[in-house]
Amino acid sequence: MGSNEKGQVAVVVGVGAKQGLGAALARRFAREGLHTFVAGRTPERLEAVVEEIEASGGRATAVPCDATESAEVVALIDRAIEEGGRLDLVAYNVGNNQFSSLLDMTDEFFENLWRLCCFGGFIVGRESARRMLDQGSGTILFTGATASVRARPPFTAFASAKSALRSVAQGMAREFGPRGLHVGHVIIDGVIDGDQVNGRFPQLKEARGEQGMLNIDAIADAFWMLHTQHPSAWSQELDLRPFKEEF
Ligand SMILES: NC(=O)c1ccc[n+]([C@@H]2O[C@H](COP(=O)([O-])OP(=O)(O)OC[C@H]3O[C@@H](n4cnc5c(N)ncnc54)[C@H](OP(=O)(O)O)[C@@H]3O)[C@@H](O)[C@H]2O)c1
Repeated sequence: MGSNEKGQVAVVVGVGAKQGLGAALARRFAREGLHTFVAGRTPERLEAVVEEIEASGGRATAVPCDATESAEVVALIDRAIEEGGRLDLVAYNVGNNQFSSLLDMTDEFFENLWRLCCFGGFIVGRESARRMLDQGSGTILFTGATASVRARPPFTAFASAKSALRSVAQGMAREFGPRGLHVGHVIIDGVIDGDQVNGRFPQLKEARGEQGMLNIDAIADAFWMLHTQHPSAWSQELDLRPFKEEF
């Protein structure tokens, strides 16, 4: 395909470090030939991910976007369709963990986590579904966590927001599945081997041992598998954990 021709498009919302799940999803979707729009709040980090994709022959575009602002999400999706083509696959990956004991927790802390982990997912899901329903097909995937199904202090606020995102995904799947949209939720039940955790808790990787943390490319493979499932056998939810993780 020539550089000006339009084709299939993927959008990944929640991309930061190169060694992060968002970046790995973008690389994976681009590797499959989708023009991948890479969205997050830090332009330099997005550009670094795009450069890497382009260096390996893929097509990608960096779009700075705060997922909790609907006007920015609308502009992102419009641009992806206008410049890229058909909106085939959208992943909502925003949702970094923060913790606080409940008694010390401020109103802002609780509300901000909800905005990042749930509200942004609702906006991205709604805007994607609006466009995909016109096409009659498309995949929308949400990144979940252990906290999506289990609330444990000091992660109560995070869990309340992640479980709410799971509900958004379930409701969307039931509303839009019969109209051709595949909506999936992926529970990451363990620690991701990426910059988010390795940067903050460098000792954890050694403590977990070999393959004790989830590999970002392996997770990205699972997202791609969901996208390519046959419509007669769709998963709505998938859980992923290291083989040695207790659950
Ligand atoms: N790390 C783990 O161990 C772990 C475990 C279980 C589940 N998860 C889930 O995995 C996902 C994250 O993957 P990751 O930990 O590897 O991190 P990641 O993909 O490297 O980072 C996600 C990026 O989202 C961006 N972001 C944050 N707020 C945003 C907003 N309002 N709008 C747009 N982008 C925003 C951040 O970049 P900017 O700040 O530059 O915008 C951040 O770097 C989350 O859904 C998380 O709940 C992570």
